[in-house]
Amino acid sequence: MAGGRARVAVSILDADLSNMAYAVRRAEREGADRLHIDVMDGHFVPNLTFGPRMIKGIRPRTELPLDAHLMITDPLKYIEEYIDAGCDSITFHVEVEAKQIEPALRAIRKAGLAAGLAVKPKTPLSALQPYRKLLDIVLVMTVEPGFGGQEFMRDVAAEKLLAAREYLSHKPVGAEVHVDGGINRETAEFVGGLGVDILVVGSVLWIPGRNMGREIRLVRALADEGYQYRLNHGTPPIPRDKMVTFTQLPKDLAWKFMREIEAGGIPVLPLRGSGRFNPDGIRDYDLLVPASAEELTVERHAADRQRYLEEAERWREAYAAEHGWAEPNGLQPLADRASAADGCGSGGVGEGGSTPEPPALPPGRE
Ligand code: DX5
Ligand code: ZN
Repeated sequence: MAGGRARVAVSILDADLSNMAYAVRRAEREGADRLHIDVMDGHFVPNLTFGPRMIKGIRPRTELPLDAHLMITDPLKYIEEYIDAGCDSITFHVEVEAKQIEPALRAIRKAGLAAGLAVKPKTPLSALQPYRKLLDIVLVMTVEPGFGGQEFMRDVAAEKLLAAREYLSHKPVGAEVHVDGGINRETAEFVGGLGVDILVVGSVLWIPGRNMGREIRLVRALADEGYQYRLNHGTPPIPRDKMVTFTQLPKDLAWKFMREIEAGGIPVLPLRGSGRFNPDGIRDYDLLVPASAEELTVERHAADRQRYLEEAERWREAYAAEHGWAEPNGLQPLADRASAADGCGSGGVGEGGSTPEPPALPPGRE
């Protein structure tokens, strides 16, 4: 997994279609983050490409996530076939018949896949409004759909990319804005500066003699640079998959707190790491949250964290009083680090006893 924030979805539209297995292997080897599969039905767009059987064939050939971009008139009719084909996300167009949209989005989500709507250049983003709560992905087309190798529409990107984020505000973590059409080393910085998460890159990667890996790395780096200097006040972006420790608690309390945090759409990873030993002989669990959602987690749950830490302390004392207990020999760290702050500000691990190494602080948070 690449560092940084931006991710590249390699569109296979302009690969050598007579050798798809090779194209897929090559994209993976050259560092693609995803594959973007352009499905066209010769009706919604004036071009015809792959169907679900092609996707099914690709699935076992790569471990990369598969993003299907359906440029078809009747997504609802075929949605189950695309779900069964092994896609990780399915995005279709908001310009299709309105009555198909909600049921198709619901079917995709019910299957546990990410659901998206794409907007053609001339369609206003407001067309997404009725479906916003059902969206994991908004795909902004910066060329007319149908063919690779067209010229990037800068004005469309400027108008829609930042604004697209608004339609995903219900999903604090994991929602994605994709940009599709005319993305290359000339346009990557511009769209990165508009906060896009996934850059779909097609034709430029398949030019004979082109170093695909270098092109992918350039596009990612330039997009991150755009993000850093246009949106993020010069601070380098947080890698998408970076996690930070929010708190450390005995298992039962950790599990309870985790469920409360996750109810608000923030994923939590419980890890039994270097936390202190409890009187029942089980170490505290670390609760990790995505670094990109750290501020939000603190905003929502700092007071709860304090409450849980106090409850943990009471539980330890009560347990020790009932069962008798002393800190296990040799398990105590050398220094007492009880006063050290953890990765999310205050709310470390309480007084005395064996305290763990404080988690690494993200840049700029000391
Ligand atoms: C066009 C497709 C794109 C296409 C992009 O309808 O949706 O995914 O592959 O190709 P480039 O990068 O050449 O614009
Ligand atoms: Zn596409």
